Amino acid sequence: MVGFRFSVLAGSGQADLNGIGGSGFKMHSPKRVQKEKSHYKFERRLNADANCENDGSHSVEDVLVSFVFGKKKAIEVAHKVWEHVVRKGDLVIDATCGNGYDTFTLLKMVADESQQGRVYGFDVQKAALESTSSLLEQSICSNEKDLVKLFQKCHSKMADVLPEDTLVRLVAFNLGYLPGGDKTIITEPRTTVEALKVSKDILMPGGLISLVVYVGHPGGGQELKTVEEFSSELPVENWIGCKFQMLNRPLSPVLIFLFKKC
Ligand SMILES: C[S@@+](CC[C@H](N)C(=O)[O-])C[C@H]1O[C@@H](n2cnc3c(N)ncnc32)[C@H](O)[C@@H]1O
Repeated sequence: MVGFRFSVLAGSGQADLNGIGGSGFKMHSPKRVQKEKSHYKFERRLNADANCENDGSHSVEDVLVSFVFGKKKAIEVAHKVWEHVVRKGDLVIDATCGNGYDTFTLLKMVADESQQGRVYGFDVQKAALESTSSLLEQSICSNEKDLVKLFQKCHSKMADVLPEDTLVRLVAFNLGYLPGGDKTIITEPRTTVEALKVSKDILMPGGLISLVVYVGHPGGGQELKTVEEFSSELPVENWIGCKFQMLNRPLSPVLIFLFKKC
């Protein structure tokens, strides 16, 4: 079993490896530039979120309406829905860490002075976990670092590393390939469904499985179909399953929420 915690990775100076926040580079590689742009956009979004919170105009309803009018992205809707479900001190799972934006967002939702909250993050790629570590290294304070545990592991094996008899509040999947990384390494229908089955069992009543399914790459359409089939078969007494999809933009990501009733 290969598992490592964020704090271990963070000690190895990964930030410069990923080209984020470093200085003195003569020339930026396209990947580095793309990552910096993404980080910049993410920071802008965080700042915008903070400003909206101040004037109270950023409810889940507002974000949904903005999504309908093309002003918010699927992932922003997902984050807002998570906020509705996740509480301080919860254990939550980022099933696909990628560049770490979701891991960071989840950490902010569970962290408080009790230090009870935990984010367990999974990705099959070392590069993804380095990128996540790098983002966290720059964005969180030292007492929050112990709350994140990262594993280079397939998400279908997530239960293997969770503390025994633990129930989780949220499992977040952001499927597809690592932005700025190797586009041939993608989430696959078979392991995604395995991971969904595990998630279903470790989720507490009142918990949520959230999926952002990208369909623009080869294999993405098939993965959506598989996720839809799994979701449609969940018993109606215990589950609410819903989907948000742009009808005239066939390549837009599809949002799926699976809520386990209390
Ligand atoms: C779209 S990215 C995730 C984006 C990420 N959540 C973020 O905030 O940047 C999808 C990630 O899933 C990872 N992945 C692919 N197959 C996986 C598997 N079986 N288990 C866990 N992660 C996997 C890829 O390596 C990639 O980094």
